[in-house]
Amino acid sequence: MSVRLAQISDLHLPLWPSRWRQQDYYLKRLAGWLNMRWLLRSANFRLAARVTHALVRDIQLRRPDAVVLCGDVACLGFEEEFAAATRLLRPLLENFPGVAVPGNHDHYVADSVNRGGFEQHFALWQRGVRLEGATYPFALPLNNLALVAVNSARPSTWPWDTRGEVGAHQLKRLQDLLACPVVHNRRCVLITHYPLLLADGRPETRWRRLVDAEALAEVLARHLVAAWLHGHRHHPYSHPPDLHRSFALLCCGSATQRRVWSYLELEWQEHHVAVRRRCYWLATDEFVEVDETVIQLAEGL
Ligand SMILES: [Fe+2]
Ligand SMILES: [Fe+2]
Repeated sequence: MSVRLAQISDLHLPLWPSRWRQQDYYLKRLAGWLNMRWLLRSANFRLAARVTHALVRDIQLRRPDAVVLCGDVACLGFEEEFAAATRLLRPLLENFPGVAVPGNHDHYVADSVNRGGFEQHFALWQRGVRLEGATYPFALPLNNLALVAVNSARPSTWPWDTRGEVGAHQLKRLQDLLACPVVHNRRCVLITHYPLLLADGRPETRWRRLVDAEALAEVLARHLVAAWLHGHRHHPYSHPPDLHRSFALLCCGSATQRRVWSYLELEWQEHHVAVRRRCYWLATDEFVEVDETVIQLAEGL
């Protein structure tokens, strides 16, 4: 039986509040605001709300079995941003099963994590099997798939530090979760914000990398996970399994960044996954399919 997923990420909706409270001021957030407001990034996401409307319409027409959100819906990690984003995404949240993980712009500063705004507003896509009552990881069984959500984002103090981390405790819970029969007996697909590799196959740069990416990759290989879906990088790319890595890597790119405007539709078959890239066309205000790649999955996955 085939399963179709819509993989979306990095909406970066520029919807932060105009009035900040005293506790909202962080060095990192001020630097992020400057970056979004006055430098190139604001121009890149100027049409983000309009493109999100088109994205929602397209996914409603395509009717996937579930939606996967790989994080970075916000820019500065304000609760108001999550409320505004979920208002835009409401037709998807209410009509499709889904899995949502936060990105570094959602868990932007310690206050964003402590308030749990991302998790509260995306509660409909935070349902699944959990261990020890922990928020992450969790797994959503979906026909013969198990969508396994891992939080790879962590807040940082310094503006140049955009590293992610899964952490030893979450990694341990992930191993236990992958061993649970309800997960283990299905084809497992990992969902994070951070990537393992860049488009050219190299690891991420020093201040942008997932610090425990190799440890996470080892767990995936040991538990025969079929694919790792992620965002963070704003241009889409994929890597099929190879001699050294048993799972595929799929980056959907940013749905709302100017001239990228991309999301993926993934159709899982018995031995392969068809990866269809859908992009926004400004002239017609709609998403259309631009290419399709077929990725063979490793034997037994
Ligand atoms: Fe991003
Ligand atoms: Fe990111």
